[in-house]
Amino acid sequence: MNYRIAPSILSADFARLGEEVRNVIAAGADWIHFDVMDNHYVPNLSIGPAVAQALKPHCRRPDGSTVPLDVHLMVQPVDALAQAFVEAGADLVSFHPDASTHVDRTLQLIRAGGAKAGLVFNPATPLSLLEWVMDKVDLVLIMSVNPGFGGQSFIDSALRKTETARRLIERSGRDIRLQVDGGIKVDNIRRVADAGADTFVAGSAIFGKPDYRAVIDAMRAELERGR
Ligand code: DX5
Ligand code: ZN
Repeated sequence: MNYRIAPSILSADFARLGEEVRNVIAAGADWIHFDVMDNHYVPNLSIGPAVAQALKPHCRRPDGSTVPLDVHLMVQPVDALAQAFVEAGADLVSFHPDASTHVDRTLQLIRAGGAKAGLVFNPATPLSLLEWVMDKVDLVLIMSVNPGFGGQSFIDSALRKTETARRLIERSGRDIRLQVDGGIKVDNIRRVADAGADTFVAGSAIFGKPDYRAVIDAMRAELERGR
Protein backbone atom coordinates (compact mmCIF):
# COMPACT_ATOMS: atom_id res chain seq x y z
CA MET A 1 0.00 0.00 0.00
CA ASN A 2 1.21 3.43 -0.93
CA TYR A 3 0.36 5.40 2.20
CA ARG A 4 0.11 9.19 2.29
CA ILE A 5 0.22 11.43 5.35
CA ALA A 6 -1.64 14.72 4.90
CA PRO A 7 -1.07 17.20 7.75
CA SER A 8 -4.02 19.59 8.21
CA ILE A 9 -2.82 23.17 8.41
CA LEU A 10 -5.95 24.02 10.42
CA SER A 11 -3.80 23.37 13.49
CA ALA A 12 -0.76 25.25 12.16
CA ASP A 13 0.27 28.75 13.26
CA PHE A 14 -1.83 30.97 10.97
CA ALA A 15 0.57 33.87 11.52
CA ARG A 16 3.33 31.87 9.77
CA LEU A 17 1.50 29.62 7.34
CA GLY A 18 4.08 29.54 4.52
CA GLU A 19 6.83 28.60 6.94
CA GLU A 20 4.61 25.97 8.60
CA VAL A 21 3.87 24.37 5.22
CA ARG A 22 7.57 24.31 4.31
CA ASN A 23 8.49 22.88 7.71
CA VAL A 24 5.93 20.11 7.61
CA ILE A 25 6.98 19.18 4.07
CA ALA A 26 10.62 19.08 5.20
CA ALA A 27 9.41 16.79 8.01
CA GLY A 28 7.98 14.33 5.49
CA ALA A 29 4.39 15.40 4.70
CA ASP A 30 3.08 13.80 1.50
CA TRP A 31 0.12 16.15 0.96
CA ILE A 32 -0.98 19.46 2.48
CA HIS A 33 -4.57 19.23 3.76
CA PHE A 34 -6.38 22.59 3.57
CA ASP A 35 -9.62 22.86 5.58
CA VAL A 36 -12.15 25.40 4.34
CA MET A 37 -14.94 26.31 6.79
CA ASP A 38 -17.70 28.81 6.07
CA ASN A 39 -19.62 29.33 9.34
CA HIS A 40 -22.71 27.99 7.54
CA TYR A 41 -22.16 24.35 6.63
CA VAL A 42 -19.94 24.07 9.72
CA PRO A 43 -19.85 26.32 12.81
CA ASN A 44 -16.38 27.70 12.19
CA LEU A 45 -14.62 30.00 9.74
CA SER A 46 -11.16 29.35 8.34
CA ILE A 47 -9.31 30.21 5.15
CA GLY A 48 -10.22 30.81 1.51
CA PRO A 49 -8.88 30.63 -2.05
CA ALA A 50 -6.54 33.62 -1.70
CA VAL A 51 -4.67 31.77 1.06
CA ALA A 52 -4.52 28.62 -1.07
CA GLN A 53 -3.06 30.61 -3.93
CA ALA A 54 -0.49 32.21 -1.63
CA LEU A 55 0.54 28.82 -0.19
CA LYS A 56 0.73 26.99 -3.52
CA PRO A 57 4.37 28.03 -4.25
CA HIS A 58 5.33 26.72 -0.80
CA CYS A 59 3.97 23.24 -1.60
CA ARG A 60 7.32 21.96 -2.90
CA ARG A 61 9.93 19.62 -1.56
CA PRO A 62 13.52 20.79 -1.33
CA ASP A 63 14.23 18.82 -4.55
CA GLY A 64 11.60 20.89 -6.40
CA SER A 65 8.91 18.20 -6.67
CA THR A 66 5.39 19.33 -5.88
CA VAL A 67 3.35 18.35 -2.84
CA PRO A 68 -0.37 18.07 -3.63
CA LEU A 69 -2.59 20.78 -2.16
CA ASP A 70 -5.58 18.83 -0.84
CA VAL A 71 -8.55 21.15 -0.32
CA HIS A 72 -11.38 19.95 1.93
CA LEU A 73 -14.43 22.14 1.43
CA MET A 74 -16.82 22.36 4.37
CA VAL A 75 -19.00 24.96 2.65
CA GLN A 76 -22.48 25.36 1.26
CA PRO A 77 -23.17 26.11 -1.55
CA VAL A 78 -20.20 24.31 -3.09
CA ASP A 79 -19.79 25.08 -6.79
CA ALA A 80 -18.47 28.65 -6.90
CA LEU A 81 -15.90 27.99 -4.18
CA ALA A 82 -14.88 24.66 -5.73
CA GLN A 83 -14.18 26.53 -8.95
CA ALA A 84 -12.26 29.27 -7.11
CA PHE A 85 -10.03 26.69 -5.41
CA VAL A 86 -9.33 24.89 -8.68
CA GLU A 87 -8.26 28.24 -10.14
CA ALA A 88 -6.15 28.93 -7.02
CA GLY A 89 -4.12 25.80 -7.76
CA ALA A 90 -5.72 23.05 -5.67
CA ASP A 91 -4.65 19.60 -6.82
CA LEU A 92 -7.61 17.91 -5.13
CA VAL A 93 -10.93 19.41 -4.14
CA SER A 94 -13.25 17.42 -1.87
CA PHE A 95 -16.77 18.39 -0.83
CA HIS A 96 -19.63 17.04 1.25
CA PRO A 97 -22.36 15.65 -1.04
CA ASP A 98 -25.07 16.81 1.38
CA ALA A 99 -23.84 20.39 0.82
CA SER A 100 -24.18 20.23 -2.97
CA THR A 101 -27.50 20.39 -4.80
CA HIS A 102 -26.16 18.48 -7.82
CA VAL A 103 -23.34 16.21 -6.75
CA ASP A 104 -22.61 14.83 -10.20
CA ARG A 105 -22.36 18.35 -11.65
CA THR A 106 -19.99 19.50 -8.89
CA LEU A 107 -17.71 16.51 -9.48
CA GLN A 108 -17.64 17.27 -13.21
CA LEU A 109 -16.88 20.93 -12.59
CA ILE A 110 -13.86 20.13 -10.39
CA ARG A 111 -12.45 17.62 -12.86
CA ALA A 112 -13.08 19.89 -15.85
CA GLY A 113 -10.79 22.42 -14.17
CA GLY A 114 -8.00 19.83 -14.02
CA ALA A 115 -8.18 18.95 -10.32
CA LYS A 116 -9.03 15.62 -8.73
CA ALA A 117 -12.44 15.37 -7.11
CA GLY A 118 -13.30 13.93 -3.72
CA LEU A 119 -16.50 13.15 -1.85
CA VAL A 120 -16.61 13.50 1.94
CA PHE A 121 -18.86 11.47 4.22
CA ASN A 122 -19.75 12.70 7.71
CA PRO A 123 -20.09 10.17 10.53
CA ALA A 124 -23.87 9.89 9.96
CA THR A 125 -23.85 10.17 6.15
CA PRO A 126 -24.40 6.90 4.25
CA LEU A 127 -22.06 5.89 1.42
CA SER A 128 -24.93 4.87 -0.84
CA LEU A 129 -24.73 7.65 -3.43
CA LEU A 130 -21.13 6.66 -4.21
CA GLU A 131 -22.47 3.84 -6.36
CA TRP A 132 -23.84 6.38 -8.86
CA VAL A 133 -20.77 8.59 -9.21
CA MET A 134 -17.89 6.17 -8.69
CA ASP A 135 -16.64 6.87 -12.23
CA LYS A 136 -16.23 10.59 -11.44
CA VAL A 137 -14.54 10.31 -8.04
CA ASP A 138 -10.77 10.33 -7.41
CA LEU A 139 -10.90 10.32 -3.63
CA VAL A 140 -13.29 9.18 -0.92
CA LEU A 141 -12.90 10.91 2.43
CA ILE A 142 -14.39 9.35 5.55
CA MET A 143 -14.85 11.82 8.41
CA SER A 144 -13.93 10.32 11.76
CA VAL A 145 -15.15 13.45 13.58
CA ASN A 146 -17.99 15.84 12.87
CA PRO A 147 -16.49 18.54 10.65
CA GLY A 148 -15.78 22.00 12.00
CA PHE A 149 -12.93 21.76 14.47
CA GLY A 150 -9.50 20.26 14.93
CA GLY A 151 -8.56 18.33 18.04
CA GLN A 152 -11.73 16.19 18.41
CA SER A 153 -11.77 12.49 19.34
CA PHE A 154 -11.90 9.76 16.73
CA ILE A 155 -15.39 8.27 16.19
CA ASP A 156 -15.02 4.49 15.97
CA SER A 157 -17.86 3.86 13.52
CA ALA A 158 -15.60 5.46 10.88
CA LEU A 159 -13.59 2.23 10.86
CA ARG A 160 -16.50 0.14 9.66
CA LYS A 161 -17.42 2.80 7.11
CA THR A 162 -13.82 2.80 5.87
CA GLU A 163 -13.99 -0.97 5.42
CA THR A 164 -17.18 -0.62 3.39
CA ALA A 165 -15.70 2.18 1.28
CA ARG A 166 -12.62 0.05 0.60
CA ARG A 167 -14.82 -2.78 -0.68
CA LEU A 168 -16.72 -0.40 -2.97
CA ILE A 169 -13.46 1.03 -4.33
CA GLU A 170 -12.02 -2.44 -4.96
CA ARG A 171 -15.20 -3.48 -6.72
CA SER A 172 -15.03 -0.41 -8.99
CA GLY A 173 -11.52 -1.34 -10.12
CA ARG A 174 -10.70 2.38 -10.25
CA ASP A 175 -7.70 4.18 -8.84
CA ILE A 176 -9.41 6.02 -5.96
CA ARG A 177 -7.69 7.12 -2.78
CA LEU A 178 -9.38 6.40 0.56
CA GLN A 179 -8.71 9.15 3.07
CA VAL A 180 -9.74 9.39 6.73
CA ASP A 181 -9.89 12.73 8.58
CA GLY A 182 -10.31 13.54 12.26
CA GLY A 183 -8.70 12.43 15.50
CA ILE A 184 -5.90 10.46 13.86
CA LYS A 185 -2.84 10.01 16.08
CA VAL A 186 0.21 7.77 16.22
CA ASP A 187 -1.66 5.34 18.45
CA ASN A 188 -4.67 4.76 16.16
CA ILE A 189 -3.31 5.24 12.63
CA ARG A 190 -2.58 1.51 12.29
CA ARG A 191 -6.22 0.63 12.99
CA VAL A 192 -7.33 3.14 10.36
CA ALA A 193 -4.94 1.59 7.84
CA ASP A 194 -6.15 -1.90 8.74
CA ALA A 195 -9.70 -0.76 7.92
CA GLY A 196 -8.51 0.06 4.40
CA ALA A 197 -7.45 3.72 4.41
CA ASP A 198 -4.42 4.77 2.37
CA THR A 199 -4.37 8.53 3.12
CA PHE A 200 -4.38 10.00 6.63
CA VAL A 201 -5.20 13.54 7.66
CA ALA A 202 -3.73 14.67 10.97
CA GLY A 203 -3.89 18.21 12.32
CA SER A 204 -3.40 18.54 16.06
CA ALA A 205 -1.32 15.33 16.27
CA ILE A 206 1.36 16.94 14.08
CA PHE A 207 1.08 20.72 14.47
CA GLY A 208 0.33 20.37 18.17
CA LYS A 209 3.81 18.91 18.76
CA PRO A 210 7.18 20.69 18.57
CA ASP A 211 8.87 18.05 16.38
CA TYR A 212 6.79 17.41 13.23
CA ARG A 213 9.27 14.88 11.87
CA ALA A 214 9.16 12.76 15.02
CA VAL A 215 5.35 12.46 14.72
CA ILE A 216 5.34 11.76 10.97
CA ASP A 217 8.13 9.18 11.37
CA ALA A 218 6.24 7.50 14.22
CA MET A 219 3.07 7.40 12.08
CA ARG A 220 5.00 5.85 9.21
CA ALA A 221 6.57 3.30 11.53
CA GLU A 222 3.06 2.32 12.67
CA LEU A 223 1.95 2.02 9.04
CA GLU A 224 4.92 -0.17 8.19
CA ARG A 225 4.41 -2.37 11.23
CA GLY A 226 2.98 -5.79 10.46
CA ARG A 227 2.44 -5.18 6.76
C1 DX5 B 1 -12.22 18.81 10.78
C2 DX5 B 1 -11.15 18.94 9.70
C3 DX5 B 1 -9.94 18.13 9.97
C4 DX5 B 1 -9.20 18.55 11.21
C5 DX5 B 1 -8.36 17.41 11.66
O1 DX5 B 1 -13.35 19.50 10.39
O2 DX5 B 1 -11.68 18.50 8.46
O3 DX5 B 1 -9.07 18.12 8.85
O4 DX5 B 1 -8.42 19.68 11.05
O5 DX5 B 1 -7.80 17.79 12.87
P1 DX5 B 1 -7.38 16.71 13.96
O6 DX5 B 1 -6.37 15.81 13.33
O7 DX5 B 1 -6.85 17.57 15.04
O8 DX5 B 1 -8.64 15.96 14.33
ZN1 ZN C 1 -10.27 18.12 6.75
